[in-house]
Amino acid sequence: MNQNMGGNEIRQKYLEFMRKNGHAIIPSSALVPENDPTTLFTSSGMQPLIPYLMGEAHPKGVRLANSQKCFRANDLEEVGDNRHTTFFEMLGNWSLGDYFKKEQLRWFFTYLVDEVGLDPNRIYVTVFAGDEKLGIPADEESVLLWQELFREKGIDAKAVHIGTEERGYEVGMQGGRIFYYDAGKNWWSRSGKPENMPTGEIGGPDSEVFYDFGPEYATHPIFKDKAPHPNSDSGQFLEIGNSVFIEYIKQADGSFTKLPQRNVDFGGGLERISAAKNGDPDVFKVDLLANVVRQIESLSGKKYDDNLVAFRVITDHIRGAVFMIGDGVLPGNEQQGYFVRRLLRRAVRFADDLNIKAGEFANLAEGVISTYQNHFVNLTEKRTEIIEAIAKEEEQFRKTLESGMKQFSKISLQIHLTSTEKDGKKVIDKSIPPIKIKAISAQNAFDLYTTYGFPIELTEEIAEEKGLVVDRKGFETLMEEHRAKSRAGAEQKFKGGLADHSEKVVQYHTATHLLLAGLRKELGEHVHQAGSNITGERLRFDFTHPDKVERDVLDRVEAFVNSAIKTGGEVTIEMLPKDVAQEDQTIEASFWDRYPDEVKVYTMKGNDGATFSRELCGGPHVKRLEEIKGVFKIVKEESSSAGVRRIKGIIE
Ligand code: SER
Repeated sequence: MNQNMGGNEIRQKYLEFMRKNGHAIIPSSALVPENDPTTLFTSSGMQPLIPYLMGEAHPKGVRLANSQKCFRANDLEEVGDNRHTTFFEMLGNWSLGDYFKKEQLRWFFTYLVDEVGLDPNRIYVTVFAGDEKLGIPADEESVLLWQELFREKGIDAKAVHIGTEERGYEVGMQGGRIFYYDAGKNWWSRSGKPENMPTGEIGGPDSEVFYDFGPEYATHPIFKDKAPHPNSDSGQFLEIGNSVFIEYIKQADGSFTKLPQRNVDFGGGLERISAAKNGDPDVFKVDLLANVVRQIESLSGKKYDDNLVAFRVITDHIRGAVFMIGDGVLPGNEQQGYFVRRLLRRAVRFADDLNIKAGEFANLAEGVISTYQNHFVNLTEKRTEIIEAIAKEEEQFRKTLESGMKQFSKISLQIHLTSTEKDGKKVIDKSIPPIKIKAISAQNAFDLYTTYGFPIELTEEIAEEKGLVVDRKGFETLMEEHRAKSRAGAEQKFKGGLADHSEKVVQYHTATHLLLAGLRKELGEHVHQAGSNITGERLRFDFTHPDKVERDVLDRVEAFVNSAIKTGGEVTIEMLPKDVAQEDQTIEASFWDRYPDEVKVYTMKGNDGATFSRELCGGPHVKRLEEIKGVFKIVKEESSSAGVRRIKGIIE
């Protein structure tokens, strides 16, 4: 057995093992979920598979497996300890109404012990203790299955009851190997325990596997006078896999009924399993991450062990940004893009603390790409975009970081001098000692954001280190006002985007909507408008897309626009409340935040009933598509800036 098995090998072994057991290996979905407006990021392997767990037929069959890229945004500021990462890979396998507990528990145990080579004596498992209120029984079936598996390894596995985490601290291990926990711990759904689940959500009891690193790792301070138990934060045990038996769906009256099929949803953290293999719970020592850690050591001349938080933040955040940009999310101020910005700017700040010189992020990103490129081939394909976007964001923030930090010290040292009125003038009364301000005002936070590019979360983090509080609420109010102003600006700019309102310019403007619809149809939903400039002679259109668009694709887009013109049809205008429009997936808009509460939607429908385009816009447009006189042609396609392409089009 290879003692130095790395993360890539552990992933490969898992996929091979699952393939041998009849699973189709499916690709990882993107980090930004498709067709799921409820969440920003894919955060578990089952998320993209929900329709199939509910009964829809999957084209690859009833046994699936993969290694899913996941991103947990909530953990961004948590990163710094030995186990939290924003990005991680979840090894997953699924039974869509096919096999159940018996096969699942055996496969995972066999994989861990016989394939990866973990010591079964260090493995502890948990099962669902049942819930009377919900009428769902304790999972005794899993207990019997686990006992048999341990017995085969010569281990006598006693099942003991724990219930809640709190109770666990009192009763401890009780000589057990298998532990019953309540629904608060041993039930899984995307929303957590049963009472938190909305109507229509699926979930079920689970059986988790923990690896015991040894009592020397029970370093959490509360364990001075408390007993460790597997599903606790002691530091001794790490959860390395979770088999969820998804067979329930929540009803409107709060009860649970069975789904038409019994599913298995297994997820295991690749980095955590690798950490178990290393015998060290620090996931940053797993080769996949340690490669970057070593790079940072050589760039900074400092040691990982002396600078744990900074090293971990930089490593995690660069990796997260690489994968995110690889999936088409560029650093920005809105939505997913803002998380990429936060990752990179937080990393820049820690890199600066380590005296890493400017411009090295590109090299660190290269390091991440080469670690992962064999499995995630899109990283190689997008290498240039990823490196450029990261280098650019680093460069931008480096420019303002130093002055921003100076500003920070100024604000935090700012003293409030007490003044008195003297002959109608304010004078400083030096007899009263100055008061140190213990807060970052809304205006200060706002200036740090707009002038120095400090995301508010970064300001809050630095403030906390300095023992200052931030007026977050006031900041949000200022941001709202700021957005309203830039909205007004954007409307003006938009008018400026049209040279005038002459007949030809208006025709080009309508053609631009058709062009965007055609691009989205051919290239995908990530395409949005990034800029537009129209004269009576041509249109110039910028849109978000990372790669060159090939001529055959451009031809199809052209054909789409021309078929709309040829078919002809009415262009209609509707006013809709913004939230209603935003819910409607058929309506395109580039920056929802910038629009007023009531929005104007232009719909271009053909005489044949087909909808060509629906888009938010200020107008004006032609009344009927056939008013566009001529044939639309794309005469040029080029890069405009990182992640943005530019098209020049004419109507002749
Ligand atoms: N969906 C479960 C989890 O995230 C198992 O994959 O833990």
